[in-house]
Amino acid sequence: MTVVDLPTAPYLDPALTVEERVADLLGRMTLPEKVGQMMQFDAREDLEHIVHERHAGSILHTSPEKVLRAAELTAQTRLRIPLLVAEDCIHGHSFWEGATIFPTQLGMASTWDPELVEQVAKATAAEVAATGIHWTFSPVLCIARDLRWGRVDETFGEDPFLIGELASAMVRGYQGDGLGDPDAILATAKHFAGYSETQGGRDASEADISRRKLRSWFLPPFERVAREGCRTFMLGYQTTDGVPITVNDWLLSDVLRGEWGYTGTLITDWDNVGRMVWEQKVQPDFVHAAAAAAKAGNDMIMTTPGFFSGALEAVDRGMLTEADIDRAVSRILSLKFRFGLFENPRLPDRERIASVVARGSHADLNLEVTRRSLVLLRNDGTLPLAPDTRRIAVVGPLADDAQTQLGDWAGSSGQVDWMPDGHPRAQITTVLDGLRERAAATVEHARGAEILRLTDDPAGTFPDGQPRPPVVVPSDPDEAEIAEAVALAERSDVVVAVVGDRIELVGEGRSTATLELIGGQRALLDALAATGTPLVVVLLASKPLILPESVREASVVWVANPGMQGGRAIAELLLGEIEPAGRLPISFARHAGQQPTYYNQIRGQHGDRYADLTQDPAFAFGDGLSYTTVEYDQPEVVTPVVSPEDTVRARVTLRNTGTRPAHEVVQVYVRDTVTSVSWADRELKAYRHVDLAPGAEATVEIELPAAECTIVDAAGTRIVEAGEFELLIGPSSRLEVLQAVSFEIR
Ligand code: NOJ
Repeated sequence: MTVVDLPTAPYLDPALTVEERVADLLGRMTLPEKVGQMMQFDAREDLEHIVHERHAGSILHTSPEKVLRAAELTAQTRLRIPLLVAEDCIHGHSFWEGATIFPTQLGMASTWDPELVEQVAKATAAEVAATGIHWTFSPVLCIARDLRWGRVDETFGEDPFLIGELASAMVRGYQGDGLGDPDAILATAKHFAGYSETQGGRDASEADISRRKLRSWFLPPFERVAREGCRTFMLGYQTTDGVPITVNDWLLSDVLRGEWGYTGTLITDWDNVGRMVWEQKVQPDFVHAAAAAAKAGNDMIMTTPGFFSGALEAVDRGMLTEADIDRAVSRILSLKFRFGLFENPRLPDRERIASVVARGSHADLNLEVTRRSLVLLRNDGTLPLAPDTRRIAVVGPLADDAQTQLGDWAGSSGQVDWMPDGHPRAQITTVLDGLRERAAATVEHARGAEILRLTDDPAGTFPDGQPRPPVVVPSDPDEAEIAEAVALAERSDVVVAVVGDRIELVGEGRSTATLELIGGQRALLDALAATGTPLVVVLLASKPLILPESVREASVVWVANPGMQGGRAIAELLLGEIEPAGRLPISFARHAGQQPTYYNQIRGQHGDRYADLTQDPAFAFGDGLSYTTVEYDQPEVVTPVVSPEDTVRARVTLRNTGTRPAHEVVQVYVRDTVTSVSWADRELKAYRHVDLAPGAEATVEIELPAAECTIVDAAGTRIVEAGEFELLIGPSSRLEVLQAVSFEIR
């Protein structure tokens, strides 16, 4: 290794422009150094090899010790280019023991509150930055339409507008005051684009999606954050029209970099380049795959070790030019220069870690966002629990399961190997803990059911020798456990049954064929319902699941994996210390065969039901009750005729007609009555949060630019078509609770 005369090297001079520094450094780099700069490695592998032999540009899945060791190793290299350190900090600093773990993205989405989500991202960024990590692979902007998909919990739900609102807030929170902000980190918009549109809910399968459909619903949230300056984009695993997104020239070059003018960094997903060879079989070898990925404009290649020799050979064989590599490396280097990493590699800082990670204000924020995320779906009058309740039976396999409560991408959820026991138990409040702490009643617990066990996949290993993940075997109902729970229910005033799913049913490669509660849970609920004791079902589930018929009249609260403060917030809600405020960001099916159940479906089909079942969802997007009643007057349009440049103005008065406070989310949908091409019957375009004391009323003013009343025409262009429109205003996306007023765009 020849060490250059660093103190005088122009690229080390912060007084020069970033362009000058990049040009100088690029001019000094060998081809292997450039190829390595495009690569991100798993830091659990041999760091010395990664940094010294492969000249890595970035690492992920690391620890402070490893970050420090990697920094020592880069300091010994010829050019001392600092590493970008990345991690999946998805709902908090996921794999930092004892960090603040917030509700999953789907849980946060139930708040419908961008400001809260921005604060969560800001708090996460502060915790992450203190530990020497620069870059999070969050947020997820995928639209969740098939509930069988294993990654529904990672999304903001089914609506492109709400996703855009919340994703934009999250990116703002992570990226703070910009690259100079010591508490900020780089955000990643993922998985670009259409990854969630899987076949049969199967993870990372071909996404059968037209360009018009992409432009209509899947691209708008990405376009928003691209234009707002989200620093990095991650490309999904899937193929579309046969082309892996990693090499989709139309999407990456024409749309993202061309139309939207995106200048940020593109990273592949995990071994996307290798997958083109060994999984999708659309490239014969790593030489061709590396050439295709670099030519398509990828900057950073995540965990494809074969990219190194593949790219070198591709250049050697004339399949790739050094200019193709330089383009990507320049973008990586300019990000590192702009981020100031050459002057300050942002290493872990013990004092900051001690003062920032899991600080009290973050726990308070976590509690607040969790409270706001709880969705009351049905209330037979049991909730809030009567003050004279003497005995509460807390039943179910998830009533006291601290790690399951945290959900995917946290502690022991399977992505990393250094936290086998998950996050510290003492930091997590389960539903049982919460009720024991807060209820004046006697609280007793019975597990009542098991959910599943795991067994080896009978298919053996994958063709490349890698082990296949174990397969789930639903547990049989256990008569003794059920009898114990029933006896407890019979001697109690109320039963709180906490049921749902477990990590083995959630996540990458863990889509489910069914949506019912599995294992002994249905039999448990049937038996509890039969006791006649008032029953509250707390559905603690990563995604919408289907409850058995036996509890069709019971009170139901849905809690997406609610994070560390979940049990406390749920206890407060059940006891009536707080008001229910969450609204569904995604519809619940009655049967897996109804998929998809999202509300904004295209008009036009024969009839509106299956022969053997309604098409109505069990609970629709936007649903969520309070402990009071709210009435809406007929809305009024102030501007019945507008031009496309004008703002549509409307108002609606609502009043709290019950005896408890209301946190109402007024929802505004737009219907374009006749469109030149088929289009969604209605789309969410605005929402307002309104707090109403008992008896109080408020008039909400709604302003909506007419330019947002668009469709995507047959040629794929987003346009406003003149004609009649309706504003549909109310407390949910369900037609029966929406009131329509017309306006015209002329
Ligand atoms: C694969 C996942 O699809 C992606 O979301 C994640 O960021 C990367 N692995 C890195 O862990």
